[in-house]
Amino acid sequence: MKIIKPVLAFVVASVCSLTVWGQNSPVMPVGSVTNASIEGQQVTLTTDQNAHIRVSVYSPTVVRVRMDKQPLTDDFSYAVIAKPQQMKASITQNNTDITITTDSLTARISKNPFAVAFFTKAGKVINQDEQGLTTSWIGEEVTTYKHMQEGERFIGLGEKTGGLDRRGSGFTNWNTDAFGYRTGQDPLYTTIPFYIGIHSGVNYGIFFDNSYQSDFNFGASNDRFSSFGAQGGEMDYYFIYHTKVADIIRSYTDLTGRMDMPPLWSLGYQQNRYSYYPETEVFRIAQTLREKKIPADGITLDIHYMDAYKLFTWDKNRFGDPMAMNKKLKDMGFKTTVIVDPGIKVEEGYGAYERGLKEDVFIKYVDGKNYSGQVWPGWTHFPDFTSPKGRDWWKKEIKFFSDTGVDGFWNDMNEIATWGQKMPNNVLFDYDGHTTTHKEGHNVYGMQMARASYEGARQHNPNKRTFLLSRAGYSGSQRYTAIWTGDNRSEDDHMLLGIRLMNSMGVSGVAFSAMDIGGFTGNPSVGLYARWIQLGAFTPYFRNHTAVNTKSSEPWAYGEEVTEIARNFISLRYKLLPYIYSNFYQASQTGEPLMRTLAIDYTHDPNVYKGEFDSQYQFGKAFLIMPFESGKNYGKVYFPKGKWYNMFTGQVEQGGQEKIIGIEYNKLPIYIKESSIIPMQSLVQHTGQKPTDTLTVHVYKGDVRNSFVYYEDDGDTYNYEKGGYYKRTISYDPKRSTLTFDKAEGSYKSNFNNIKVVMHGFGGSKVKVNGKSQQANKDFASFLDPISRFDPQGDANPREGYEVQSLVVKNDSDKFTIKL
Ligand code: GLC
Repeated sequence: MKIIKPVLAFVVASVCSLTVWGQNSPVMPVGSVTNASIEGQQVTLTTDQNAHIRVSVYSPTVVRVRMDKQPLTDDFSYAVIAKPQQMKASITQNNTDITITTDSLTARISKNPFAVAFFTKAGKVINQDEQGLTTSWIGEEVTTYKHMQEGERFIGLGEKTGGLDRRGSGFTNWNTDAFGYRTGQDPLYTTIPFYIGIHSGVNYGIFFDNSYQSDFNFGASNDRFSSFGAQGGEMDYYFIYHTKVADIIRSYTDLTGRMDMPPLWSLGYQQNRYSYYPETEVFRIAQTLREKKIPADGITLDIHYMDAYKLFTWDKNRFGDPMAMNKKLKDMGFKTTVIVDPGIKVEEGYGAYERGLKEDVFIKYVDGKNYSGQVWPGWTHFPDFTSPKGRDWWKKEIKFFSDTGVDGFWNDMNEIATWGQKMPNNVLFDYDGHTTTHKEGHNVYGMQMARASYEGARQHNPNKRTFLLSRAGYSGSQRYTAIWTGDNRSEDDHMLLGIRLMNSMGVSGVAFSAMDIGGFTGNPSVGLYARWIQLGAFTPYFRNHTAVNTKSSEPWAYGEEVTEIARNFISLRYKLLPYIYSNFYQASQTGEPLMRTLAIDYTHDPNVYKGEFDSQYQFGKAFLIMPFESGKNYGKVYFPKGKWYNMFTGQVEQGGQEKIIGIEYNKLPIYIKESSIIPMQSLVQHTGQKPTDTLTVHVYKGDVRNSFVYYEDDGDTYNYEKGGYYKRTISYDPKRSTLTFDKAEGSYKSNFNNIKVVMHGFGGSKVKVNGKSQQANKDFASFLDPISRFDPQGDANPREGYEVQSLVVKNDSDKFTIKL
């Protein structure tokens, strides 16, 4: 053995020498630095391979690295809206290295060959190029290779199948119409080339801003590197370092933007199918929701509302007077969302087609002929949403809907989806003045469609929030739209996959996400439907949807008992709206998602990445949701560090342990984190209905400090941008056992005149409000109604719950402290 080793080493070295970089190598390396100039916060370099590089400091925690085989020219991005902050970064160089030092990190650029490494202030490696591979080109394809750190894990990359930890897997970004996708299928509809690496107590983010088809390798088929590359364009990435994952998300959304406050109605329950028609059917659904006391706010119209699938038309036989219908729905407390597909039918005499031709807005082949692809209406042309002209045309056209009282736009088929799924690459996109081929335009098309819809909606209704949903997207789409996970299947593993897809989108900047509740293709079992609708109540956009040829999927379609379960959980959702809305405010300010994979707050706990636990998530910071397949009576869960209250019984579980729990068919297992603060309201049937004027704030005794930013506004306009909101921080201090409501900020008057504080786990009934003793009342905490299965005669079946203490105070918006 001992003799063989050196021989082997020699053979390996000789083989390697055949493949090292050289003049005629098929792989072009980035090369060694021949020239480096430092100017303010940036370094510009060239190499002996004629690579052009710029490293710029965007903020103390964000460094951008750009490389190309030609001089770097126009700096254009659909994703990034941030400019570098003016700040002090020290940049020094010697013969071998350039060192960039900010308040948060050190970046070392090696000159020979060019390579980058990032370190903490204490000198610990966060991330470094893989020696020998660094960055290289194969033809137009450019890839950067990073050394795989010991135990390194990877999360994010948006809408990607697979486990939470992406180590050992590779992924492609190419927006794809993935009807009825498999649970391991890749790629799906949306491209978000951003991921977070985690190892040995540190974590960082990398955003690779390139809209060509991109490929990520997190140690798939190799034990050496993680890599990211694209079929063309620049190597252009942003390195982000923070000690907390939530701060990495904040920095990533500083770069790519955040969502507006959504219309409040879009956070209520949405009923949909492919398709509800005619109008009488729409009213039957709306009426039944009201009759059965299933709260709901939205009805969505799928492609059959159109005349022969022609956009900007209504089928007059099915929908004789859309304006009157939408008005009547509004009176019943429903908002209408319509599907909009990008394909415009090629048909002489059809208005949108004629206008599109006249204004010359359609995507063309390189020879100037309009491109045609087949979708629902048959042969269609596609507006070029990457051109201001194309977007402006769309904005004008979409007025058609704003004028008929539509409140939401559902942008579908915008990957672009065409039958055959093989759009030619010699089709050109304007790319906002940087004419390019399908190869670069493809992945941003859906995002730009959503942008045009968003801008159009704002133009026609400047002070009204319109709801936007999109299937395809690119980094930064969150500025315009919510994203849903497309055509899933009515299967247990799809329900769990959907949770992971949304959790992953959450760490990738998309806080407003959805999946088709109940599954799109196929028919769920009764148990699966029941479980899915329970889970749906704890997702950001809560929409039940199903395909054209499936069984009915309304909450009453699965029998009496499931109707009750659905009513129970949808009602709970409505009672939680003050909590949910405040969490959306958080997302609009910091980018932190509503659906928080446990990797956000428990990043370095290896258990959260285990396959058996990696679909668990927090909904806001308070709720720990355990999504299980249907039909399970027992299941293993993991409680991360801390204490966790069973929402239904108040029983406390100690964190840091795995546990087998019983699972009830009618009750999704839900736990509440110690020290949580959860504002709730009374039940309403839709968001247009006023709740009682008491805001109920639940507080759970715990050992950790916590604070919650409570937020209200009118839920409908943009007045909040001018101070029209009501906001106050509520903090819990475990040492002093106090709950403090800070003075309220903003010019909006709260909807609530009283605040009822409900104390969980505190015991005693003596409290003090601003130092004055008061007696708390005996109360009962119960989040769901009993299900009749357990009470068939409807006799006095005790509500499930437990005893607590509560106290009502006047909400005068001044600061006050309650000693609990
Ligand atoms: C696509 C959408 C689906 C929709 C259908 C008909 O498959 O993903 O949600 O119902 O088209 O418009």
